Amino acid sequence: MDVVLRPVREDDLPLFQRFSIEPGLIGLDWNGFRDAQAPVRRFAEDGFLGKDDGRLMVRTGSETAGLVSWRTGSFDGRTTYWEIGIALLPEYRGRGIGWRAQALLTAYLFEHTAVYRIQASTHPENVAEQKSLEKAGFRLEGVIRGCEFRAGRMRDGYLYSRLRDDPAPELGNGSVTGSGTAPVEEPLAD
Ligand SMILES: CC(C)(COP(=O)(O)OP(=O)(O)OC[C@H]1O[C@@H](n2cnc3c(N)ncnc32)[C@H](O)[C@@H]1OP(=O)(O)O)[C@@H](O)C(=O)NCCC(=O)NCCS
Repeated sequence: MDVVLRPVREDDLPLFQRFSIEPGLIGLDWNGFRDAQAPVRRFAEDGFLGKDDGRLMVRTGSETAGLVSWRTGSFDGRTTYWEIGIALLPEYRGRGIGWRAQALLTAYLFEHTAVYRIQASTHPENVAEQKSLEKAGFRLEGVIRGCEFRAGRMRDGYLYSRLRDDPAPELGNGSVTGSGTAPVEEPLAD
């Protein structure tokens, strides 16, 4: 399967805006309407490639399937890790894109940043994301009790992680395209 991560382009902004204002399109993480101009401002600022967080688009074939994200966090206030996230459009779910995109993002972050730990959280009812993370080489660490207010009440979350020394998943027989060890498209020159 052909899955590639690439930088955000201006013509991706309508997709970001749809996730901000279409109820439920983003999945269980829908928590009300958001400022639809925020993605426009953020793109103008740094193209969603900041020091402490970022986003890349998920491409399959010639189509844009969704996006992946990462943001920094710290347990001890000194040592940083990344927390990753993903949102695919409904028509691209359940086709093997999600686990590959998260495996590619993890490989990209381990290659280009010195973190030892990458974590991801999900919801107890999000079986697709739980399986997707496990296929991407993540392990369940435990239940984080009462960690998020969602759909009208406080809820538990599941925390997963992959450490730099953990085995990477087999991505297949060369079917995931990219640029060698960094399976992410180079930005197009203007
Ligand atoms: C969660 C998400 C990223 C998973 O990606 P995906 O492309 O749909 O999942 P994949 O096709 O890579 O499947 C990975 C595994 O999950 C299983 N799976 C996929 N959808 C499933 C579902 N709805 N229920 C149960 N298992 C499911 C697949 O069968 C596969 O496991 P298998 O190889 O053992 O068969 C994607 O569905 C999505 O973007 N959902 C909406 C946003 C979201 O929930 N993001 C995560 C928030 S924490």
